[in-house]
Amino acid sequence: MTSEQWTAVDDYLTDLVVRPDEALTAAQRAGDDAGLPAIAVAPNHGKLLHLLACVQGARTILEIGTLAGYSTIWLARALPPDGRLITLEIDERHAAVARANLDRAGVADRAEVRVGPALDTLPTIDGPFDLVFIDADKPNNPDYFRWALRLTREGSLIVVDNVVRRGAVALAGPDNDDPAVQGTRRLLELIAAEPRVNATVIQTVGSKGYDGLAIALVTAGPPSAQR
Ligand SMILES: C[S@@+](CC[C@H](N)C(=O)[O-])C[C@H]1O[C@@H](n2cnc3c(N)ncnc32)[C@H](O)[C@@H]1O
Repeated sequence: MTSEQWTAVDDYLTDLVVRPDEALTAAQRAGDDAGLPAIAVAPNHGKLLHLLACVQGARTILEIGTLAGYSTIWLARALPPDGRLITLEIDERHAAVARANLDRAGVADRAEVRVGPALDTLPTIDGPFDLVFIDADKPNNPDYFRWALRLTREGSLIVVDNVVRRGAVALAGPDNDDPAVQGTRRLLELIAAEPRVNATVIQTVGSKGYDGLAIALVTAGPPSAQR
């Protein structure tokens, strides 16, 4: 299969089932028009985040890596009116585009963008969060996961994007020394060794290429019951 086929199938599924509305499409367009990189989650992955937050009954969500706020909108829409989402972004320009997008989507009352390096902002945040979505600079993923564990509770969900990296995470090759791949491998080793989570990792293909998602349920159960 080719990436053209993955994209065609994603387009078909998105048009038929996912059906992002005008506010989501406008958010993508605003990011493109502002020259932001096209690295937001695909619509069907955004919807997956939304559904996970719905299943969680999430009232509090933390996102690390905002960009134009595309995934933020999907997540924020799963919150009740008095819910709270905090999203962390290092780049003031990205944050400005995201704030306008959140406003247009009608979720600015519950979704707040905080600007700065996430590792500086995280110590200033109080949890617990019902869901944490990690999607920023990949070399810091192990630290983001440690923070996610600190800021969650039993029953929370931690989702990490881009953990397969066109297979480089597991396959020998020139990409394997990439700091993003190294960060991802350390993250997955942390998850594997962490008795407080029950996790899986899935490979995905689609309009954003070949990658994957890690999903970890925070549980206080004994390690033997979790694996
Ligand atoms: C993959 S994009 C996020 C995409 C977004 N979650 C979506 O799907 O719509 C990663 C974002 O993380 C931001 N970022 C990178 N390093 C960061 C850091 N150290 N702290 C906070 N944000 C960071 C980048 O500026 C970029 O906007």
